[in-house]
Amino acid sequence: MDCIDIALAKGRLEDQALELFAELGLTFPDYSKDSRRLIFTNAEHKVRLVLVKSADVPIYVERGAADIGIVGKDMLLESGAQVYELVDLGFGLCKIVVAGKTDAYQRKPKPVVATKYPRIAQAYFREKGQPIETITLHGSVELAPLVGLADCIVDIVETGTTLKEHGLQPMEVITTLSAQLIANRASFKTKCARLYGLIDQIQGVVDGRLADR
Ligand code: PRP
Repeated sequence: MDCIDIALAKGRLEDQALELFAELGLTFPDYSKDSRRLIFTNAEHKVRLVLVKSADVPIYVERGAADIGIVGKDMLLESGAQVYELVDLGFGLCKIVVAGKTDAYQRKPKPVVATKYPRIAQAYFREKGQPIETITLHGSVELAPLVGLADCIVDIVETGTTLKEHGLQPMEVITTLSAQLIANRASFKTKCARLYGLIDQIQGVVDGRLADR
């Protein structure tokens, strides 16, 4: 079966992406949130969905293991993957911020910044002309300033609850983010007819939602 393969970021974007597919009539009968399975197929539409860690979606798509993907802009910026960004899906809205207990980090000659996003953090502070040392963590980044591991963090904020619960303040907004539909560059040519159809349908749903706001 010559399928369209979609890589979807597990976690915060998963439900909204599946809702979007359902609006197109694209459902995955085997899918269940509790399942440990990672591949789901819609045989009628010849579409296969693979669930992967959000940080891995860009590489799956860049390397052609998936034709298209749905992932947060944060992971795209951080990966630097060579993919086409096709549609801003308008959900998964959040920000990347610099946060700390206070703004004292701004007066240090070379503050230590803990983050899951070292590339984004370095680019931001380089642009500002501020030298930093980055410590790359893989989660629970808010802990770092509390235990003396870092002077501040660069992290995503959605509701702001996690920062608040750790007594941290957002000090600087680096950028705003949302979920993006991305495509493998070669697939875009070799599977163009089927991909264009799907992309058009997705764009239609996104435009319809914008018009309803
Ligand atoms: C992200 C981020 C914050 C939290 C922010 O972590 O790193 O910890 O979400 O969300 P909020 O503003 O709505 O509180 P994620 O849930 O991806 O988990 P992780 O820390 O394990 O990476």
